This record gives sequence, structure tokens and C-alpha cells, in this order.
Amino acid sequence: MHLVWAVVTLSATAVLAWPWATPPQRPAHDEARSCSSNCGSTLTDVSIFQDMLSALHNLQDVYFQRWVGTWPKGIDWTRAVMATHVAAALRTISDQLVRELKSDNKKADSHVTTTQLDTISLYFTDLVAYYFGEDAFAIRNQAYDDMLWVVLGWLESIQFVHNHGKLLAQYPSLRQSSPAAVDSNEWYGHRWIPAFAHRARVFWELAAKGWDTKLCGGGMIWNPRLLPYKNAITNELFIAASIGMYLHFPGDENDSPYTSNIKLEPPNISPNFGWHAHDPVFGSAAQRGHDWLRSSNMTNDQGLYADGFHVSGLGKEGNNNTRCDDRDEMVYTYNQGVILSGLLGLFQATGQEHYLHEGHALILNVIAATGWDLTRNKPLEPRAENLTFFLVREGKLPRWHGLGRAGILEDACDMRGSCSQDAQTFKGIWMHHFATFCAPDALEFVHPRAGLDEQTLERIRDEHAAQCKGYLPWLRRNAKAALGTRDENGLFGMWWTPGLLVAESGGRDSVLLMENVRVTDDALPPRKEGEVDYRNEGVPQDEVWMEIGHVFGQERELPPVVGEEGGQRPLGGSGRQMTLMVNGEKRNGTWSGILLRKDDVMGSIVFGRDPNVRGRGRTVETQGGGLAVLRALWVVSRNEA
Ligand SMILES: *[C@@H]1O[C@H](CO)[C@@H](O)[C@H](O)[C@H]1NC(C)=O
Ligand SMILES: *[C@@H]1O[C@H](CO)[C@@H](O)[C@H](O)[C@H]1NC(C)=O
Ligand SMILES: *[C@@H]1O[C@H](CO)[C@@H](O)[C@H](O)[C@H]1NC(C)=O
Ligand SMILES: *[C@@H]1O[C@H](CO)[C@@H](O)[C@H](O)[C@H]1NC(C)=O
Repeated sequence: MHLVWAVVTLSATAVLAWPWATPPQRPAHDEARSCSSNCGSTLTDVSIFQDMLSALHNLQDVYFQRWVGTWPKGIDWTRAVMATHVAAALRTISDQLVRELKSDNKKADSHVTTTQLDTISLYFTDLVAYYFGEDAFAIRNQAYDDMLWVVLGWLESIQFVHNHGKLLAQYPSLRQSSPAAVDSNEWYGHRWIPAFAHRARVFWELAAKGWDTKLCGGGMIWNPRLLPYKNAITNELFIAASIGMYLHFPGDENDSPYTSNIKLEPPNISPNFGWHAHDPVFGSAAQRGHDWLRSSNMTNDQGLYADGFHVSGLGKEGNNNTRCDDRDEMVYTYNQGVILSGLLGLFQATGQEHYLHEGHALILNVIAATGWDLTRNKPLEPRAENLTFFLVREGKLPRWHGLGRAGILEDACDMRGSCSQDAQTFKGIWMHHFATFCAPDALEFVHPRAGLDEQTLERIRDEHAAQCKGYLPWLRRNAKAALGTRDENGLFGMWWTPGLLVAESGGRDSVLLMENVRVTDDALPPRKEGEVDYRNEGVPQDEVWMEIGHVFGQERELPPVVGEEGGQRPLGGSGRQMTLMVNGEKRNGTWSGILLRKDDVMGSIVFGRDPNVRGRGRTVETQGGGLAVLRALWVVSRNEA
């Protein structure tokens, strides 16, 4: 297979037809380009890869500001996730270069190869810039999950550098453009590994302080400033980050605590200080975290992770309950995702197959909760296979199944148009970790200590690949929907489902159909009892969630609370009040729940016929989600290639 790399150089603005309104006038060849990737129902290898590259270009050329080395509209934790998406995309591009060089005997000095290498170099410099743009000092004082996203990001970058360095070592002529003065056998990217490793180690160590055994028999606490809340995300992150440290962290001899301590000296390299590669401390932390999460009763009757647990009555006089018994039933996509990287890593480290089985079981539950029947590869309501047809015929949206509808992944806030900055990042996170779990080379490396013989490993690899291939029709449908949310500048929106209309109609004005679609009860994500959507609505100021100081005084040493200044909201969600016109009527409320209710007509809340301009609209986070779903489709479909 041979990709057309010249497309890489297309400017970010020349990408696609504007699907949500009458398309602006455009030259004929542009029309042709948009149809190769978006019209009709086929996603070819070439178009997926090109669309993934366009998504990356736009993430970096629209949302990244090189002079400050960051995505200014992000917040600290979402920036860490964007860096993870970029590093993962670079690894995917590098992997593809290897494949092409192997299969085509392509000359290493060809123009195409040079373009690929330039793409990688450009965005690698962005990652390096972000190393300094990242506000490491602020993140130290945030919640434990915030810190762990940082760890995952730099571990991803380390893996990319190793991978790409291996490629360049294999094809030395690719490096012929290196200045002769650089006296090294290694790709220059390797020189950044100690810095990345140091950052990862510092934040892993800070976060590990969140492990607590006084309550609930273990588990990570989410936020040191609130009453103890043991949630899925912090524990999944701790598992994934710890096993990632065990497998990929190369060691760290630098004992300077933080990069923001600027000294004009070399860092303290002390001979007695050292974090080593494959330190068992990391591996056992991951296993302990996993054991606790498995026994925590955190999954609901759909087999999906609810958000987390409070300890009821904690801090009340005479109460001595220490059990995690008060569950927040809210279900978010990302809580079903991060654990997948952890499970893969645990398998790689131990060779125990049950970790993989657990991951596949969760993926199956997620797919079912989008309303997709994997055995027939159709939506559970068969008429919803063609969403356009369904909307016309039923005059309503397909049913909500817990994490989506009509086979498309959604968070509950997507349809409401009420997603916070946090939630706008969630689906991309799910896709990233799913891609990691189902990458064709996921089981290539298994730790020697796992003690698997080659024959067993071969069988496990085959079974894993076969299962991952089975998810592809569903994944393809999701990518198609996400692609349909792009605006005239190629920027992805938050709510993927209506994007499918664009794919079904070949990019025409199909979204007009939404004008007569009514919101019915079964299409609205229900407000379940015991559900607190704190990621979108803000942390409630009540006795369950209150600041720890109100209950225990300040006897614990607490990091200072970081204020709203600087755009960081350490508590997640915003709780912001807003007023919007809905069906010609003004409605007040917080982020969530006001924009849509039963019997609303979709058309009147779909401003400018584009449902993705509602709420926060298109952002760096929704762009990251678009990149992640395309990369997932590309990577997972390599199992077929
Ligand atoms: C698990 O959590 C659910 C929801 O809070 C609760 O109904 C159930 O009793 C719990 N099960 C156990 C074994 O604690
Ligand atoms: C606290 O624990 C003691 C001893 O286990 C028990 O007798 C008492 O009822 C508990 N108090 C409450 C409020 O649960
Ligand atoms: C979906 O339904 C619409 C409206 O009935 C129709 O025009 C379109 O061709 C259908 N698309 C597919 C792929 O079946
Ligand atoms: C919305 O809130 C504002 C400020 O609190 C208030 O003045 C206004 O009357 C409210 N509007 C509606 C439609 O409730």
C-alpha cells in the first residue's frame, strides 16, 4: 500500500466541505478532495490516514501557539492530554514510515520520506516546546488525577522517541541530513528522554501520595482538598501510569524537585539517588491499584464504571463508617478508557491473560451502551442504521443507551450541548486508550519475567487481534460521524452523532432534517438517582463534597487551592450560569440540563444548523477528540492489513 504524502502539505484551511450550511464557493478540485474522504460511506486507508494528518495539523496549527509553547485555550490537564495525542500520532506516523519502507523498498531519500520526517520533526519540536510550556509548578498543587495525566503524556513521548529512534537506526540513510557536527549514533530526540523521564517520575511520586488505606481498604483519593472521594479516573490513571512507569520509564538520576527551580547549574545528579528502569515499586503499585478497583464495586449493572465513591457520614460526630458506600452513578466515557492501557500493561508485565479478557469485556460493554449490536454489526434499533432515514421516519433521535445512541459514542452532555471543558476531552481519551489496547503491536513486547512460551503468546496475540478486528465496523461508524462534524476550517465538533448525517448524504445539507426532530424521553440521557454530574455542573457545595478543611480543620497539610485565575479549574466542571434561547424562549441554568428538554424541537436549538456550535463549541479539546478517533481507526485497522 502506498500513501499519497503530498497531501500533508495542504494548508489547514483547505480541508473539507462545510457540511452544516450552504457550502461556500470552491474550486472543483477541492470538491473532489472532500469527496474522497467524506462523501459516501467508504473510509479508505488513504483517506483515514490523510484525515488523521489534517486533524493533527489543525490541532497544532490552529490551537497550539509556538511562542508560548502551549495550547493557550486548554487547561493544565487537558493540555497534558493534547500532548499525549500528539506524541501518539507521531508514533503512528513513524510506524507507517517503517511499514512503507519495508513493503515498497522505498528509497530512504525520496521526497515522500523527507516530508514524513519533516512532519515528525515539526511536531516533535512542539512537544519539546510544551515541555517548558507545561505549568508544572501549578499542576503540583492540583488534584491527583491532574498529575497523572502529566505522567501518561511524557511516557507516551518516551515511547515515541524510542520507536522513532529505532527506525532511524534501522535505516541510517534517513539520518543523512543530520549535521556532521552532531557526534552521536542516536537520533537527537533521545537527548530529551532524561527530561521527559524526570517530569514523569516527579509527578508519579507526587501523585502516589494520594494512595490511602484508612478508608475503603485502599484506593487513590481524587482531590486532597475535598472530602475523600475515591473515583474511577484517579485509580485508573494510577494503574495505567504505574504500569507504564514499570515498563517504559528509563530511570532518573536527577534529584531536582521541579523544573521551575531555575538554577544556572546542572541539575543535581547525585550518585546515591536513583529511580531505576523496571523498578518493582511501580509494578506492584499498579497491581495493588487494580486489585482495589476490581473489588471496589465501582461498575454498574451495564458493566460500566460509575464515577466514584464517597464514604457516607464521614466527619459527622459519632460516625465511624470507613466504607466506600455512597456511589456517584454518573457514567462518563473516559472512565471506561484509561483502564485499558493499564490492563494491557499489566498483561505485558505479568503474562496473565485475564487482564486482556477484562479489557475486552469492558469494550464490549461500552459498545453495547452506544446502542450497537456487535454480532450483527448494526444498531440495536435496526432502523437507526441509516440515521437520516430514521430521523425522517421517526421524527426523533434514536434512543439513548447509556453512552450513546445508534452505535455512536456520546457523553450525556453531548446532546444537551452542555459539556464543560473537562467533558469535551473525554471521548478522545477513550479512543486513545482503546487504540493503545488494540494496536497491532500491543502484544509484541511482553516482559521476559512473564514467562510465556512463544506458542502460548502466539495464540494470545491471534485471539487479541481477532477480537480487536471485530470492533472495526463500530469504530468506522464512529470515525465517520466524527468526520462529519468538521466545519469549513476542518475543525471537529463535540457531538459526533449528527455528523453521521453528513456522511450518509455525501456532505449535503442533511442536517436540515434536524429541524423537525423532537426530543423524546427515551432520547434524553435520564437523570438517574444518585448521579452527580460534577464534571459538567461543578462540584456541589454540599456536605458530601465539601472542602476537607470544613470537617477536619487544617490538621492535614494541604496544598493551597489554585484559583480560577489562569484558567485552571482544579475541581472539574464550572457550574457556570448561562442563559440561552431555546425554542424562542430564554432559559437560565448551569451548564447542564437546561438546553434540552422533552418536546424541544432540535432544529430550534441547532444554531445555524450546526449542533456543534452550542455550548463551548469547537475547542482544542474537541479537536483532540477528532484526532484520537481517526488515529484509533487507523491503528486498529492495521490488524487487518
Ligand atoms: C455496589 O454498589 C451498589 C450501588 O451503590 C449497591 O447497590 C450495592 O449494594 C453494592 N454492592 C456491594 C456488594 O457493596
Ligand atoms: C461505631 O463503632 C462501634 C464499634 O464497632 C459501634 O458499636 C457503633 O455503633 C459505631 N457507631 C456508629 C455511629 O456507627
Ligand atoms: C439514507 O436515507 C436517506 C433518506 O432516506 C437516503 O437518501 C440515503 O440514500 C440513505 N443512505 C444510505 C447509505 O442508505
Ligand atoms: C435569568 O437570570 C437572570 C439573573 O439571575 C434573571 O434576571 C432573569 O429573569 C432570568 N431569566 C429567566 C428566563 O429565568
